[in-house]
Amino acid sequence: MLDVDKIREDFPILKRKINGYPLIYFDNAATSQKPIQVISAVTEFYEHHNANIHRAVYTLSQEASELYEKAHEEVASFINAKGIEETIFVRGTTEAINLVAYAWGLHKLRKEDEVLVTLMEHHSNIVPWENLSKIRGFRVKYARIREDGTLDYQSLEDMISKKTKLVCVSHVSNVTGVVNDVKKIAKLAHEFDALVLVDGAQSAPHMPVDVKDLSVDFFAFSGHKMLAPTGIGVLYGKRELLEKMEPFHGGGEMIREVSYDSARDRCSISWNELPWKFEAGTPNSCGGIGLMEAVRYLKNIGMDNVVSYEKELTDYAADRLKECKKVTVFGPKNPKVKCGIIPLNVEGMSSHDVALLLDSYGIMLRSGFHCAQPLHQLIGLKSSARASFYIYNTKAEIDRLITVLQEIEQA
Ligand SMILES: Cc1ncc(COP(=O)(O)O)c(C=O)c1O
Repeated sequence: MLDVDKIREDFPILKRKINGYPLIYFDNAATSQKPIQVISAVTEFYEHHNANIHRAVYTLSQEASELYEKAHEEVASFINAKGIEETIFVRGTTEAINLVAYAWGLHKLRKEDEVLVTLMEHHSNIVPWENLSKIRGFRVKYARIREDGTLDYQSLEDMISKKTKLVCVSHVSNVTGVVNDVKKIAKLAHEFDALVLVDGAQSAPHMPVDVKDLSVDFFAFSGHKMLAPTGIGVLYGKRELLEKMEPFHGGGEMIREVSYDSARDRCSISWNELPWKFEAGTPNSCGGIGLMEAVRYLKNIGMDNVVSYEKELTDYAADRLKECKKVTVFGPKNPKVKCGIIPLNVEGMSSHDVALLLDSYGIMLRSGFHCAQPLHQLIGLKSSARASFYIYNTKAEIDRLITVLQEIEQA
């Protein structure tokens, strides 16, 4: 099992007081806090190894390059990718999805094609497809969700056809915590020769992910939601697909050779090998090294322990919230289909007011649409307050949330 007291010692920020109260951080779906191991790895990199990678023959550059490559290896093994050639470092989930849209979709999608997206997606898995459809003319179709926020699998089955070239689905909803059966969706998509892109922003930090077992074609996630620094994330892609794709950004690092042909007055260009073909320019090396340390930290705890501890916290919170008379919790009642995230509202108050009042007691949670407006529209909500948990949260913190919510209810 997981030793929460020991884990909490690793997170310096948790020692802070906010408005005179101990900090309670319940906005982990937005971004996680960082353990001292990650902070130290970043500092150590700048203090001892900093240089541009893959550019120079001197010692520092060699050290920085080795660390950055090792980071790719650690992350590849974390998600069970075949190797670093399938593990592209990007800025985060948003950039990973845009990479697929512009390096694959822009070249492959035609007017008669369809991209099937679900209505529970974060905007970052909707907007790139709507934008690209304006250029390429294909249709974006939306699989429905049920009233409780779960995916309507029947609607997905009804909408998929030979026209579908890509199915885009989040592994875990960032609003309701609903876990989608992406293995089943991948199987269905492949029967129609469609590819599958999974937004793993809310799953990779919280549960074991095995991209081979899931059999997905692309899997995107963000480092900052899983203990790593901001500005680093990952796109997993099957090697055979990535090899055939055009690059996303052009510049240094992603090329093998650029040669000037004076007869044609043009440059001809060949691409670097994977994953560097998709990592143009000077990369976020220290972010990558921070991500390596974050992945080591999580591996050390064990992702099975992470998922079961967070489940325990979520079930406990869902149970205790029933004691708050004016609080409504949204999302599925069946705890088996969800993890780590609880959207709620307090009768007669806007979600921002709830979040502001909780903040005055040192409790941080998110309010608003959480970048998923269509989902809110469909479940009939203007907005919601969202509590989302991670490995350093405790039942005592949840008890404190309930006490404060009850005080707010009586005010
Ligand atoms: C489900 C989901 N997808 C995508 C994103 C976007 O992640 P990022 O802002 O790190 O690119 C988020 C962030 O909240 C998310 O929760």
